[in-house]
Amino acid sequence: MSEKHATLTIEGQNYQLPLIKGSEGDKAVDIRSLLKETGYITLDSGYMNTGSCSSAITFLDGQKGILNYRGYAIEELAERCSFVEVAYLLLIGELPTREELNNFRSLMAEHALIHEDMIHFFDHFPPNAPPMSILSTMVNSLCNYYPELNSNSDEALLSIGARLLSKIRTIAAFSYKKSVGHPLIYPRYDLSYCGNFVNMMFDKPVKPYVVLPEVVATLNKLLILHADHEQNCSTSTVRLVGSAGVNLYASISAGISALWGPLHGGANSAVVEMLEGIHRDNNDFGKYIKKAKDPNDPFRLSGFGHRVYKTFDPRAKIIKRACEQTLKALNVDDPLLEIAEKLEEIARNDEYFIKRNLYPNVDFYSGIIYRAMGIPTNMFTVMFAMGRLPGWISHWQEMMQDTKDRKIGRPRQIYTGPVKRDFVPIHERV
Ligand code: SDX
Repeated sequence: MSEKHATLTIEGQNYQLPLIKGSEGDKAVDIRSLLKETGYITLDSGYMNTGSCSSAITFLDGQKGILNYRGYAIEELAERCSFVEVAYLLLIGELPTREELNNFRSLMAEHALIHEDMIHFFDHFPPNAPPMSILSTMVNSLCNYYPELNSNSDEALLSIGARLLSKIRTIAAFSYKKSVGHPLIYPRYDLSYCGNFVNMMFDKPVKPYVVLPEVVATLNKLLILHADHEQNCSTSTVRLVGSAGVNLYASISAGISALWGPLHGGANSAVVEMLEGIHRDNNDFGKYIKKAKDPNDPFRLSGFGHRVYKTFDPRAKIIKRACEQTLKALNVDDPLLEIAEKLEEIARNDEYFIKRNLYPNVDFYSGIIYRAMGIPTNMFTVMFAMGRLPGWISHWQEMMQDTKDRKIGRPRQIYTGPVKRDFVPIHERV
């Protein structure tokens, strides 16, 4: 392999494939000319070895447990920023000045309502409709009421970004209120992004809700930690759907559907259900560890393992600390936290998990915090979607702006079905 090319030999013929290096040293073999030059495609189920694009938004190092948004370390952003500030950073590529941040916040407040006609949609979902199904439907429907992004200007991007970020928060809170049969609480101009969310979720005409600074601070941190994660399943879905030229709302709606999966964003709910199961089974950790290790049992330890991180997910470290701090601040004594910490300790000392580099991921402790805030388990993945939204929008926009390299996403395959055969008319079929 020369420093600039890899040499591929197929049927005695050598092919030179360019080598590419990213700004943080990540490496790739450029195979964009492979099929044309060799007649061969590559096969890579689950894209475990395949990069789908170049991107300047987020950098991950799975071996070192590094996560940076636009060059800034997640640890710093989580401790020193608000979610709205990080959303601006992901969308525009730079941290906002105070004035820019205030303008973005005002845009959020301006776009916080959804069209009153859309509120009637909630009347027609069954009472136990999964919140992720409602969210995906409602976000897709936004295209019937609000304009699409039709320019590359920062102003246009910030406007549609503020609109989507603000409305997804309103839709999430309204869907919860509808599910519990309480009157809707409208957004307020005087509350922050996160303060408004918890107020819309928990305020009641009969008993005003007190927006605690600890809750707002923790929610900001959680949303920041979920804000982007390069080409994960749901972000790749947003890019793939968007590559067909469909509008941003529909692309985001597709991303919400992908995130719903228990192997992806749905894991945060699955973790709490798993921990509740262990609690019901008198903390029979052995039973769950045995099931997780059994190759014939589909059960996996939810919140453990990761396609990229083969060390501690840097977000999980921050969330674990925030979990302990928040439960203490809210004076919540949840047995699930102790169960989670014990399960982590057992798994991390078990050869099966050590050999496979399986560590807690972003979903392992987050649900325990949401529980302490009073958010129901079936809303946890909605929280993940709210956090991930700025990342989805940024990736969609980055792809749309890449007029040089952008193509409709259309992977190939290796065919393993019947070879060509003659048609048999029905009267001859026995
Ligand atoms: C997210 O991609 C992202 O960036 C995602 C995300 C984001 O921010 O967007 O980080 C968010 O989705 C986090 C992951 C949430 N999902 C879960 O917590 C579900 C439980 N985790 C696993 O299902 C699994 O670890 C995945 C899906 C997360 C990753 O799966 P991979 O990369 O396809 O790995 P694999 O299934 O091939 O596992 C390799 C081995 C297998 O054993 P062997 O066949 O080698 O014997 O590890 C085992 C797996 O059985 N394994 C687990 C396990 N995770 C992997 N065994 C038990 N419990 C687990 N959790």
